[in-house]
Amino acid sequence: MARLGTSPEPSHAGGDAPAPQHVAIIMDGNGRWAKARGLPRTAGHERGVEALRRTVEAAGDLGIRYLTVFSFSTENWRRPAAEVNTLFGLLKAYVQRDLSRLKQDGVRVRVIGQREGLPPDIAELVDRAERETAANSKFHLTIAFNYGARNEILRATQAYARAIAAGEVSGELTDAGFEQYLDTKDLPDPDLVIRTSGEYRISNFLLWQAAYAELLFVDVLWPDFSKSHLESAISRYHERERRFGALTPGAT
Ligand code: FPP
Repeated sequence: MARLGTSPEPSHAGGDAPAPQHVAIIMDGNGRWAKARGLPRTAGHERGVEALRRTVEAAGDLGIRYLTVFSFSTENWRRPAAEVNTLFGLLKAYVQRDLSRLKQDGVRVRVIGQREGLPPDIAELVDRAERETAANSKFHLTIAFNYGARNEILRATQAYARAIAAGEVSGELTDAGFEQYLDTKDLPDPDLVIRTSGEYRISNFLLWQAAYAELLFVDVLWPDFSKSHLESAISRYHERERRFGALTPGAT
């Protein structure tokens, strides 16, 4: 298997147009993938990790610099304990197995979401992954785990209120000022948000950050997601016209 960023030149789908800088993915459809094969849901999640590995590599090859994936939401606690435990186990196994290679490949790993409530061994592992890759900047992999956008915004607001009460900040709060309290404070906003599995929802993912992102809903179950799906998503992204609330140049 090729290593991340080892392709000779980034092969941007879309000719000379630059790849979107930041792609975020709601990796949906693991359960349906497994059910269609008469397998337990956990088998779908296991195959989902393989799809994640493929996607990290493909994103690097295609010139994407930031990839953020939704792995476990604050709402996923409502699932049976066995499934929740599997998802925790998969995060642990992924970090344990892939960290040294990600490090070598220049990947900076971040985990966003609420740390509180994570089992101590997972929290320690996540801290380690972040610490050991903190100097990397070639590619940024962000795993949203125990993440919910409303929860993130509430935590940010609480942190801001504490900073005000402590006299650490004053003056008018701006967008950029507030963003310093979000889990994503060091990341650019996503340009493209992809959701797999044919569902048309944003499901509490990056609500603040995706304000101007292009949204793409693709009809493939996450374990089947491959480099060609990512290339096709980038091509469709290039067909969109991003105006950020302004008019098309030349329009009156
Ligand atoms: C949604 O599919 C997917 C999840 C809730 C988990 C996503 C997790 C992975 C891709 C693997 C874990 C990776 C790491 C790094 C921990 P679903 O179960 O809701 O599928 P369904 O809608 O078909 O039931």
